[in-house]
Order: sequence, then structure tokens, then C-alpha cells
Amino acid sequence: MTRIFGKPLISQQELNRRIKDLGRRISEDYQDRDVVMIGVLKGAFAFFADLVRAIQVPVELDFLVVSSYQSSLKSTGRVKVISDLTVDIKGQDVIVVEDIVDSGLTVSFLKKKLLMRHPNSLRVCALLDKPERRTINVPIEYVGFTIPNKYVVGYGLDYQNRYRNLPYIAVLDQAGEQE
Ligand code: IMP
Ligand code: MG
Repeated sequence: MTRIFGKPLISQQELNRRIKDLGRRISEDYQDRDVVMIGVLKGAFAFFADLVRAIQVPVELDFLVVSSYQSSLKSTGRVKVISDLTVDIKGQDVIVVEDIVDSGLTVSFLKKKLLMRHPNSLRVCALLDKPERRTINVPIEYVGFTIPNKYVVGYGLDYQNRYRNLPYIAVLDQAGEQE
């Protein structure tokens, strides 16, 4: 079978290994607590599914569907919530699971929105972190991989809604062509 896209920046094997580590850390940190894991769709779908299965404490799962108003490859940080949570997070220990933190605007918007519902605690877990692009300081408690300032696709991440199904993370060049 031929490969469907480019060269991996992060391979399936590396993803698996790192996500197991994150799952172990979260399981330790939340040993005696009930945690609500919130997957931010669509981007986090693949990461979320693998991460929650690497966690060994009981978790409650829920999803937020958001759409960021994007101009080509840049996020403007204006986020529209298309579908909201179905559980009440008041008094709960919550972890928001994101695909990538770029400028940080999306995560800080979501944190502000969720904090208004008075959870007991709120942490962020992101598969990828692009710190060079940060315009707002927002702590990310669990990070899978810190990556350089490149546009990436695969494993949930898209370019114009494509490539989410790649089983690894690949770099897309500026022109939107595959590398
Ligand atoms: P932020 O608000 O700038 O932190 O951007 C967050 C959102 O922009 C992410 O949840 C992604 O949906 C999208 N995004 C940022 N960088 C990339 C990338 O390299 N590939 C795919 N999507 C990205
Ligand atoms: Mg996203």
C-alpha cells in the first residue's frame, strides 16, 4: 500500500508511547478524584480517544464542538461553540483536551468560559504545543510534544478539514502542499 501523505514529524510509535506516559501521569494525579475529561472537537478526536484509554482511573467524558474563525493557516482566537457540554461541571475536576495550542487564544477563551461554571479544578492537556507562536500566556499542565513553528496535520489536525485521518503528525508547507 502507498503512503497517503508526506513524512511524519511525529510517528505513530512516538504518539503511542507519549500518550501512554500522559495517561499514566493523569492517572497518578487524579487517583482519588473523579475527573471529567472534555474533548475539544473536531481536532482532538483521535488524541482524546487514545488518551482516555490510557487512563486507569474512572473518568467521565464529554465534548465541546468549537469552530475557530480561521483565516487560512492562522487562528484569530475568536471561537464559536457549536455544541456545548452535556454534563454540569460545577464542583468537578476537569481536564480540557486539545489538539494543539498555538497562539493560546482558543484555550484561554475556553478556560474563561468553563471557569464561569465553577469547576473544582480545571487543567489543560494538549497533544501539541507551539510555544513560539504564543500571544497570550496560558498554562498547559499536560503537553504531549513541543513542536517548532510549522503547520502540522494528521492525527485529528486538519488543513481545510482534510488530513485528520492520517495516523501520524506531518508538516504542511506554507503553500499548503505536502512536504
Ligand atoms: P490557537 O487559538 O492559536 O491556540 O489555535 C488553536 C487552534 O488552531 C487549534 O485548536 C487548531 O484547531 C488550530 N491550529 C493551530 N495550529 C495548527 C496546526 O499547525 N495545524 C492544524 N491546526 C492548527
Ligand atoms: Mg482545534
